[in-house]
Amino acid sequence: MKNFDFYNPVKILFGEGKMDQLPMEIPANAVILMTYGGGSIKKNGVYDKVKQSLAGYKLLEFGGIEANPKYETLMRAVELARTEKVTFLLAVGGGSVLDGTKFISAAINYAGDPWEILAKRGAVIENVVPIGSVLTLAATGSEMNSGGVISKLETKEKLAFGSPLLFPKFSILDPTVTYSLPVTQIANGVVDAFIHVTEQYLTFPEAAPLQDRFAEGILQTLVEIGPQALINPLSYDLRANLMWSATMALNGLLSCGVTTDWATHMIGHELTAFFGLDHGVTLAIVLPALLREAAEEKREKLLQYGARVWGITVGTEDRRIEETIQKTESFFRSLGIKTKLSEHGVTKDQIVPIVERLADRKWKLGERRSITPERVERILLACF
Ligand code: NZQ
Ligand code: ZN
Repeated sequence: MKNFDFYNPVKILFGEGKMDQLPMEIPANAVILMTYGGGSIKKNGVYDKVKQSLAGYKLLEFGGIEANPKYETLMRAVELARTEKVTFLLAVGGGSVLDGTKFISAAINYAGDPWEILAKRGAVIENVVPIGSVLTLAATGSEMNSGGVISKLETKEKLAFGSPLLFPKFSILDPTVTYSLPVTQIANGVVDAFIHVTEQYLTFPEAAPLQDRFAEGILQTLVEIGPQALINPLSYDLRANLMWSATMALNGLLSCGVTTDWATHMIGHELTAFFGLDHGVTLAIVLPALLREAAEEKREKLLQYGARVWGITVGTEDRRIEETIQKTESFFRSLGIKTKLSEHGVTKDQIVPIVERLADRKWKLGERRSITPERVERILLACF
């Protein structure tokens, strides 16, 4: 196991009715900017509940943060927050609202051009506005981590950023607020959480059996409850376990002491940037092809994953690996997700700019930095 630092200061308030605790978590004299998305919180009552809980506060709002939040939109919120001297940001929504709010937090007092936060390696984030969150969609783990992903409309880029200063002070996880999610978003969330785990686990053995079993525990839980959650949308226990699984999948615990991959995410971000596909969908498309391309590098962990998560123990190693990848893809498809680019109207010639862009950026992906742009091209061609 490698040396590591583990730091996660996020206070989690989990369960039905936890929104009532909001006033205990935000300073009484705060000037709050509540941020939200395209309006789902107004339909499912979450907006009203937050407003009621915070009745005594100076409360401003900024709605309209899109799925895959846009830099251009967020900069309008930054202007508002600067003008109104906002001292606390409350994100109410899914991963996009949370990520967008982290960016706003970092940009408000940023000394240079805020685009640098996303585009410049080593941009220093040092004076942030504190954030709290009310999560409405189980998927990204953004509620308990310090990163985010922002898109720029103008250039069709989707870039990640992060800072230890951007952990939310608290996150409220009330599973009942996810009852109103459409099934497509529940499925996206299951896949996103699943692939957050594989990015940290399906690499190579590093003598970290506890991390492996944490990872396998989350994967097995998602395999068990994911399909049930789609057909029992109002089951509290299913929603609660899905929510907690997604949070635990990306709060830093699984990556302690091990080398991580993230190639599926990096390639997936490009598919969203160019074709507007949902984040979870892009991952379900890329992962099977990536696992086949990197099967040699990942051989031991693929065999372990196949045996422990899917019970695949018979046959040659190559046969077991192929069966494991097929099981994984079938699981995504069983959730209603189309796992081929052709099923989303994308054609082979459209992947050329993605490969060119990755080559320009000189990105080498994967746990061994061995996924070159040429290999990304092979992976993407295998997604048809
Ligand atoms: O905008 P509204 O109207 O709120 O509707 C949203 C949106 O259309 C809707 N929704 C959310 N909660 C709902 C609801 N509809 C009904 N009832 C509810 N309770 O769902 C749609 C999708 O929301 P979004 O926030 O975009 O989804 P998700 O949570 O999957 O977030 C995706 C974003 O997170 C980034 C992704 O790249 C993507 O931009 N990620 C962030 C990560 C992180 N910070 O650590 C890691 C992830 O890998 C991921 O990259
Ligand atoms: Zn993800």
